[in-house]
Amino acid sequence: MEKYYHIVTYGCQMNVHESEKIAGILCELGYKNCDDAESADIVVFNTCCIRENAENHAFGNIGMLKKLKSIKKDMIIAVGGCMTQQMGKADNLHGKFPYVDIIFGTHNLSNLKNLILQKQKQKKSVIEILDSEGEIVEGEQPFRTSFPNAWVNITYGCNNFCSYCIVPYVRGRERSRKSENIIAEVKDLIKQGYKEITLLGQNVNSYGNDTNGDLSFPELLEKLAQLDGKFRLRFMTSHPKDFSEELAKVIAKYPKICNCVHLPVQSGSNSVLKAMNRKYTAEQYLARVETLKSFVPDCTITTDIIVGFPGETEKDFEDTVELVKKVNYSSAFTFVYSKRKGTVAEKMENQIDEETSKRRIMHLIEVVNSLTREHSKKYIGKTVEILCEDYDAKKNLYLGRDEYGRMGYFESEKNVIGEFINIKVLQANGVSLIGEIVKD
Ligand code: 5AD
Ligand code: SF4
Repeated sequence: MEKYYHIVTYGCQMNVHESEKIAGILCELGYKNCDDAESADIVVFNTCCIRENAENHAFGNIGMLKKLKSIKKDMIIAVGGCMTQQMGKADNLHGKFPYVDIIFGTHNLSNLKNLILQKQKQKKSVIEILDSEGEIVEGEQPFRTSFPNAWVNITYGCNNFCSYCIVPYVRGRERSRKSENIIAEVKDLIKQGYKEITLLGQNVNSYGNDTNGDLSFPELLEKLAQLDGKFRLRFMTSHPKDFSEELAKVIAKYPKICNCVHLPVQSGSNSVLKAMNRKYTAEQYLARVETLKSFVPDCTITTDIIVGFPGETEKDFEDTVELVKKVNYSSAFTFVYSKRKGTVAEKMENQIDEETSKRRIMHLIEVVNSLTREHSKKYIGKTVEILCEDYDAKKNLYLGRDEYGRMGYFESEKNVIGEFINIKVLQANGVSLIGEIVKD
């Protein structure tokens, strides 16, 4: 009899890729993918705890499965991801949702197979949260779901301890994968026909700083850019404090490396940046942007910004808006500060009220959207190369991104997913473009 799995993913790209690894484990156990919990024999929640709303969302969805589980008693429910790795959270989850069968942490993803086999033999829930990171596990076979795009971890964990952030507590210390393993994985992906490789790490710029490091990040990137074949390279996330001139030069030297850098600023106010423990000032950030632009003049920059950090004054917020306009980001993720248990910022005085944060984020979103629209408008009439990644059945259009990360839609008679297509841009709709294929 066929067995099916369903994975619910919360949070960032890192988690999306982790879900691909979970899917790989489930495939190995003979499960096939399905789109809803009702048809599944195992449901896995891959949670995120970076902000409270992601956590609440997961809690709500796990709660909603209670009824289904009372009917489908043999269905296995597993909860993993960084939410479970928080101190005391696994017990809390088990108490609230006793019908959850397996709770596993971020450090024991590779043991999920054994946990499932153990659960199949016993009635009692299986809970395993390891305190320490352990060795990096190689040789995983993720079930990739985003052809022609593929994600490749280069580091795990984070050492930066930004005062608002829970990641270092739930993902452990920074560990780099050996460069030979990364290069082998990328080579294999290119051989399989993947056309865009995104290197993942909480701070890719500190790649190789630990004992596994034989190459620096620019050196690793250069080695990958020298591989044969037509493909694109991206990376995220770059901590501005470690963004070097050497990296800017490598980006400039190799056309395969996209001229698009995600450089989270978080705030434009020096006092807020200091309280956030970001280790740079607004001036230093702008200088890094200048360096990047001096080597890669057409480089677009995207960012993450938090509003409503404890103590943020109206003037601090204005400084952020001013910096956003100065850098002229092509797009930005904007967040309202979310108090996380165990972080330094949790104990800070002067937490900002909801109304003020809401007003500030609405204003910031308007500013960011208008910059995004301006960037899109400049595309009209130009020809851009899109890597086609999907087909939108509702719009009856194919879609993909250019090297700067802009989404472009176009009509095509044949399936061109996985191909580089030149389109002439006819319209710009804020964040996306509409164009027609240029016949050669
Ligand atoms: N509240 C709001 N946003 C946060 N981020 C990280 N922690 C928090 C928090 N406690 C944001 C940062 C980071 C992005 C991945 O999530 O902007 O760059
Ligand atoms: Fe969190 Fe800062 Fe590490 Fe990013 S660099 S994961 S924001 S602690």
